[in-house]
Amino acid sequence: MKKKIKIIPNGPYEVSKGIPLKKAIIGIDSRGTSEKWIEGREYESGEESYYLCRCGHSSNKPYCDGTHEKIEFEGKEYASKEPYVDGCKVFEGPTIDLYDNEELCASMRFCDRGKGVWQATMDSDDPSSKKLAIQEACDCAAGRLTVVTKDGEVIEPKLPEEISPIQDTAAGVRGPLWVKGGIELEGADGEVYEVRNRMTLCRCGESKNMPYCDISHMNCEQMQGFDK
Ligand code: FES
Repeated sequence: MKKKIKIIPNGPYEVSKGIPLKKAIIGIDSRGTSEKWIEGREYESGEESYYLCRCGHSSNKPYCDGTHEKIEFEGKEYASKEPYVDGCKVFEGPTIDLYDNEELCASMRFCDRGKGVWQATMDSDDPSSKKLAIQEACDCAAGRLTVVTKDGEVIEPKLPEEISPIQDTAAGVRGPLWVKGGIELEGADGEVYEVRNRMTLCRCGESKNMPYCDISHMNCEQMQGFDK
């Protein structure tokens, strides 16, 4: 059977068996700037499908522990199922273009290193700026940012099929679920979202762009601190 993530109405994410669950940590420099992704521990994903908390109130994060029922979680989905590109602004540089769908931002802040991805795109006739723009866009877990060559080739990082609860080290909070490698996401109504190489799913329960992260976790008490 096809591996996928299914949104349970007013409940957690149901994840097909066989999809690995592995923590991802934002590695920072001495000023707290996001520098690189660090692989964290691998969780038990078991032989069966498993459930990841979407409401933010589980005492056993990243897993669901049933608390969503007690708090009568309303897990309404707000996000559009339109293609990613339809929501993008396009920044045209001399050698590459940057597609930017701001609604998907999860504020992992890799795009701010050095001159930043937007300026680096505009300066992409310089090889080191071009390299920086591609790196920063590829580090964007949310898939908000994508670099496209002038020949129309979409540059995507090679990502394994897995899910990573994010640790936002500088902010001191749990971040969203980073879904990698083109795993299908089925809404509570049975309709499928656009399949993408990378996306970040809300797990604080507060996103106004549910099921995608909209940075609400930064201000959620239940998301302070890190997962074990
Ligand atoms: S979705 Fe079940 S405890 Fe959060």
